[in-house]
Amino acid sequence: MTAVLIDGKAFAARVRAEVAGHVARLKADHGLTPGLAVVLVGEDPASQVYVGAKGKQTVEVGMASFEHKLPAETSEADLLALIRRLNDDPEVHGILVQLPLPSHLNSDLVINAIDPAKDVDGFHISNVGRLGTGQKSMVPCTPLGCLMMLRDHLGKLAGLNAVVVGRSNIVGKPMAQLLLGDSCTVTIAHSRTKDLAAVCRGADILVAAVGRPEMITGDYVKPGATVIDVGINRIQRDGKSKLVGDVDFASAVQVAGAITPVPGGVGPMTIACLLANTLTACCRANGLPEPQGLTA
Ligand code: GUN
Repeated sequence: MTAVLIDGKAFAARVRAEVAGHVARLKADHGLTPGLAVVLVGEDPASQVYVGAKGKQTVEVGMASFEHKLPAETSEADLLALIRRLNDDPEVHGILVQLPLPSHLNSDLVINAIDPAKDVDGFHISNVGRLGTGQKSMVPCTPLGCLMMLRDHLGKLAGLNAVVVGRSNIVGKPMAQLLLGDSCTVTIAHSRTKDLAAVCRGADILVAAVGRPEMITGDYVKPGATVIDVGINRIQRDGKSKLVGDVDFASAVQVAGAITPVPGGVGPMTIACLLANTLTACCRANGLPEPQGLTA
């Protein structure tokens, strides 16, 4: 059997089109333009690529994009002062500080200085606590994208066994909370889990976010399971540079019922969900109803 491919690229295009429709209505009916501020400190090449893509897609859906590129030696005080200004700016509905920050800056301190209502990454301690206690929050973009794809493919998730491999604050832990919120039976596994393959074979939903190229092979997959591959790893193969996930696609695709490819799976959903979160933040800030289907 060969699994159905879950096309994240096409799904993300649909989400962006939906966001663009809401943005057009906000402008026409309320004179509002959702605004996203992205802060980049330093010149990390991968971060520059991400920030460029975010800015471009923000403008494409009709939102305002505010980019703040600061030198690597920026002081914590200067960065915190910028965040305070963005918190107070009524044209800014979402704030994202690109991670990783240079090592002299305390990421926790910086992230927790963002107004939680504008924290479109969902990394502020208050949003983390709200998600964990089932209160309305901003939800981290990558897990939100995974949840949207799972709901779209499987319908109701209640009662399914979900295994999340990876325990990061950005993906693994919020992913587990979201699946629990949809009434899955959730296991968080990781690189130190005993007999990881057997644990994974119990999963109807298997989310791989462990950061190890092609670690999850077909013998980790229950026949018919839905496999979501969050990994993005650059490897050298046959003298060529190649992007691969945390799942060994070639073997897993033979066993799974459905699977996300890399590239073209989870990746494109992250920015689409960032735009969805910015729209949600703008609606909440103005006391307007939230768009349906674009939040957890
Ligand atoms: N760096 C890599 N991924 C992310 C993300 O989702 N948000 C932020 N702020 N930084 C990142």
